[in-house]
Amino acid sequence: MITAVFLTHTAAPSGAELATLRLLTALDRGDAVHASMLLTEDGPLVTLLRRRGIPVTVWRNDFDSRSLTIAGSGPLRLIRGAAELVRLGRGLGTAVADAGADVLVAQSTKALLMGAIAARRAGVPLVWQVHDRISGEYFGGPLAFGLRVLGWLAARGVVANSRATLRTLLTRGRPHTVAYPGLEPGPAVERAAQPAPEAVRIVMVGRLTPWKGQDVLLRALALLRQRPLSVRFVGGTFFDEQNYRAELERLAAELAVPVEFTGHVDDPSAAFAEADIAVHCSVTAEPFGQVVVEAMRAGCAVVAADAGGPTEIVRRDRDGLLVAPGDVSALAAALDRLIADPALRTRLGASARERAADFGIEATAEAVTGLLDTVLRRRASDSAAPR
Ligand code: GLC
Repeated sequence: MITAVFLTHTAAPSGAELATLRLLTALDRGDAVHASMLLTEDGPLVTLLRRRGIPVTVWRNDFDSRSLTIAGSGPLRLIRGAAELVRLGRGLGTAVADAGADVLVAQSTKALLMGAIAARRAGVPLVWQVHDRISGEYFGGPLAFGLRVLGWLAARGVVANSRATLRTLLTRGRPHTVAYPGLEPGPAVERAAQPAPEAVRIVMVGRLTPWKGQDVLLRALALLRQRPLSVRFVGGTFFDEQNYRAELERLAAELAVPVEFTGHVDDPSAAFAEADIAVHCSVTAEPFGQVVVEAMRAGCAVVAADAGGPTEIVRRDRDGLLVAPGDVSALAAALDRLIADPALRTRLGASARERAADFGIEATAEAVTGLLDTVLRRRASDSAAPR
């Protein structure tokens, strides 16, 4: 039995955190890994974990990670920020040691920073479970480079949520694996026949944030030959993104495309079940894209951005359509094609359902367990080897 502590900096119920919640639940069902969660903030994820009986520790602190951003903070603030980070990392290290951990698993880039110090303090190896593509387009060139190097130096092993994410990392000499964030088995969705063009309902699920490209869908809707019956945006704003929601509402009014914003929902499966077409159109390559699998499982006809994780999920024109990220007219053309053709929607939706079954949480748990095991064995044989 491996005792693993999973560390993250946010308790927001957004993609990476929900993936962690499902992973810990699956590990808890098995007997290979005893997993617990350590967070540096309280919030909805803590409640969700507790509800599932996963041990959680919230490590209270007043470290402000913004003090570490170069822009806008003077050298003094930066030094003070770094000192606070070290103090926080050491504190977390005692929590990791108290938990009797064999290994610490960082779930975010901020957790990687804190975890590097904590793992050292606790004398356990650090594994980095990466949910973001560590690329210049997302982090900016210098920071992406720094994170890659830090990851390589600090982590003894790497788990990536897709091959696209893995390709952005330095893994030389480090055990690494892809563990797609799988879904939990859910009830089968009864789906009525795909409706006629004028009755089509479109849904887009995801955090409202510029890189997810909700504005791209709005612009594409304005170009459609046949307007759908309804369009729903399901998703909340978590990380200072409220302005984007206001911007989207303004844009929808300006383009005269009637849409509904539902805000955050804990479980989007009903929203998918009530939709005929699901759109994913992130403008930056999506690291994985759990909503794409969720939409497919519900039997929606899917259009997804042709970059990153979705290209590993959707078999082009078989389980869904893929369009170039940010290409408004290509998205409009794909939607026009789907709206006009119920038979195409039916075929894609049926194949999507089958494909979604390839992404189960048990496989995720198995991949992560295998990697943790490799890291710990390697460590044991390194320390047994004569120096
Ligand atoms: C992050 C990524 C998303 C992925 C999720 C789970 O939220 O942006 O693509 O699905 O993590 O790994």
